[in-house]
Amino acid sequence: MEFAQLHPPGPPVEPEAVYTGLALEARAPADRPYVVANFVSSSDGKATVHGRSGPLGGSDGDRASFHLLRTQVDAVLAGTETMRIENYGRLARDTRFEEIRVAEGREQQPLGVLISRSGRIPFGIRLFADRGSRVAVYAPAGTAVPVECEADVLLHELPDDSGGDLPGVVGSLRRDHGVRSLLLEGGPLLFGAMLAAGLVDELFLTLAPAIAGGAERGVTAGAALPEALELELVWALQRGGHLFLRYVRR
Ligand SMILES: NC(=O)c1ccc[n+]([C@@H]2O[C@H](COP(=O)([O-])OP(=O)(O)OC[C@H]3O[C@@H](n4cnc5c(N)ncnc54)[C@H](OP(=O)(O)O)[C@@H]3O)[C@@H](O)[C@H]2O)c1
Repeated sequence: MEFAQLHPPGPPVEPEAVYTGLALEARAPADRPYVVANFVSSSDGKATVHGRSGPLGGSDGDRASFHLLRTQVDAVLAGTETMRIENYGRLARDTRFEEIRVAEGREQQPLGVLISRSGRIPFGIRLFADRGSRVAVYAPAGTAVPVECEADVLLHELPDDSGGDLPGVVGSLRRDHGVRSLLLEGGPLLFGAMLAAGLVDELFLTLAPAIAGGAERGVTAGAALPEALELELVWALQRGGHLFLRYVRR
């Protein structure tokens, strides 16, 4: 499988040639991880079709970029709704992805990260039933991990009045778990909150050749930004009708 390279122009490339060796951690500031977001969007900027991202992200190119990006980071953060609706499981899905991680000096599996201000943690998802997974959970005092949970769960208390305290959480990921690169996989509410907190450094965006319509959720939601966040296009790849864009914050 190959991507056409539109910008900068170049010969066709295989996914592993572009989505590995990114060395994202080298860009991390001292007090938090370098944060990259990955989204698939319809051509009208929506994140879902009938409430799920699957119909937009079903192409082989999107699957390859999605899974390879997970090999490039120390930890993967997703909103509790996304984890619940998409029933998240083990993050590095097969041995090839684990091999890439280890060859580039990372743990076999990325650390999974959840944040919940309400304490409604989706403990029923496959990730918590996976013995080989590690998950950092940031939740209010009194949140208990069910006994049937097989994953290694590292529970952190969110202070009562923190409102989610995203800077505190990403700081803790660096300090307490040595996380230098963090992949944010959505959803729109958590992405909006991370943007508003100034905590997103890059965006990997797959643009699908489809219109989802007005009833669907946009790629960002929630908090307003004081002004548009300006981005610089790093690359544009194409496969079939899909565009694969990498942007860095100016
Ligand atoms: N197209 C794509 O690439 C893509 C990617 C991901 C998801 N999706 C889709 O997006 C939908 C889910 O997204 P969503 O926006 O509804 O939910 P979400 O962002 O996945 O999760 C929102 C939850 O995160 C928790 N949270 C913790 N700290 C927060 C903070 N500071 N600000 C906001 N939320 C915080 C909240 O739980 P508490 O109230 O407990 O704090 C909140 O309910 C699904 O349909 C999924 O399929 C699409």
